[in-house]
Amino acid sequence: MTAEDVLQEFVPYSERILITGCHGLLGQKLFTLLSPTNTIIGLDMQPGTHLSGRDYSYHTLDITRGPDLIDAIVELRPRYIINTAAMTGVDHCEDEKEACWRVNVLAVESLIKGARKVGAHLVQVSSDYVFNGKQPPYCETDRTDPLGYYGKSKLASENVLRGSDISFTIARTQVLFGVAPKTRPNFVDFIRLKLEEGLELSIVDDQLGNPTLADDLATGIARIIQLRNTGIYHISGSESISRYEFACKIAAAFGEDPSRIKPIKTAQLKQKAPRPENSTFCLDKINRELKFRPRSTIEALMVYKEQLHELQITTGGNAK
Ligand SMILES: NC(=O)c1ccc[n+]([C@@H]2O[C@H](COP(=O)([O-])OP(=O)(O)OC[C@H]3O[C@@H](n4cnc5c(N)ncnc54)[C@H](OP(=O)(O)O)[C@@H]3O)[C@@H](O)[C@H]2O)c1
Repeated sequence: MTAEDVLQEFVPYSERILITGCHGLLGQKLFTLLSPTNTIIGLDMQPGTHLSGRDYSYHTLDITRGPDLIDAIVELRPRYIINTAAMTGVDHCEDEKEACWRVNVLAVESLIKGARKVGAHLVQVSSDYVFNGKQPPYCETDRTDPLGYYGKSKLASENVLRGSDISFTIARTQVLFGVAPKTRPNFVDFIRLKLEEGLELSIVDDQLGNPTLADDLATGIARIIQLRNTGIYHISGSESISRYEFACKIAAAFGEDPSRIKPIKTAQLKQKAPRPENSTFCLDKINRELKFRPRSTIEALMVYKEQLHELQITTGGNAK
């Protein structure tokens, strides 16, 4: 069986699936995986779409426009809604608390209202930042205690779902990276580009977690839909490492000298939002219930490298 056959085994067929934030990194990975065999309805902020597919329709909509969002769901009648749209900048959320709450919490309340009207199942993407990072590894039943506003908003989105009467799944993830056109730079892009410019880098060695290839997260979510599983799932890469170790692996993967990266401590950065020190996930539940094993960091970086190469060929070297 080829790798593609294995992947297709994880993909649902003939469902109507609405993806919010379809132009984001995860949104595009979900689109790529699901669109060949399902009817995809994409929603995002910017007018026009660069995605195309046989059964694909795109709608420009700010999900904080509650009544419009509910009307759209009623008109489009999806069987599944996957909410990837969010305000994701952790320090930005600390500065813009009201805007963060509107996107990350109030919009989820509107999605729930729409989902209830059409009987759709809602998959909400959440974060490791719902934990304080003091007692890893974290499994799905562990106590939450977010440190910053972003984590608080993500936990609140989980809680409105838990308090609702609709069918739902929460997919928590962390340190997401991958290749997709027109997305904002992720950690791997940032390190790679700085090293390509010949710069030296200082990266924290006291923040640990599981770097996650966005393709793997998309596969885990597809599997949840295929199996119709509900509840909470931790979906991340299989390996826990510090950001410094991750940066060194990125350097090695791209033939750059890792000694140009120096370890520093989080306290030296004076970041606005506090971060969990170690939010390593326990992946036993996805291994057991989804029969799904995400890639190691090196395997994931090899996929990233191949996809970047393909994107650079198709865009004539202008990718990212
Ligand atoms: N990235 C990580 O390391 C990480 C870690 C843990 C969890 N997560 C979660 O994973 C999910 C996907 O992350 P990602 O990295 O794929 O995010 P992303 O690349 O920033 O994609 C999010 C997409 O949603 C759109 N969007 C934002 N606000 C919107 C609104 N009000 N209405 C409609 N669309 C809106 C964005 O448009 P604009 O670009 O125009 O704003 C963007 O296209 C998020 O829920 C995030 O909280 C991410």
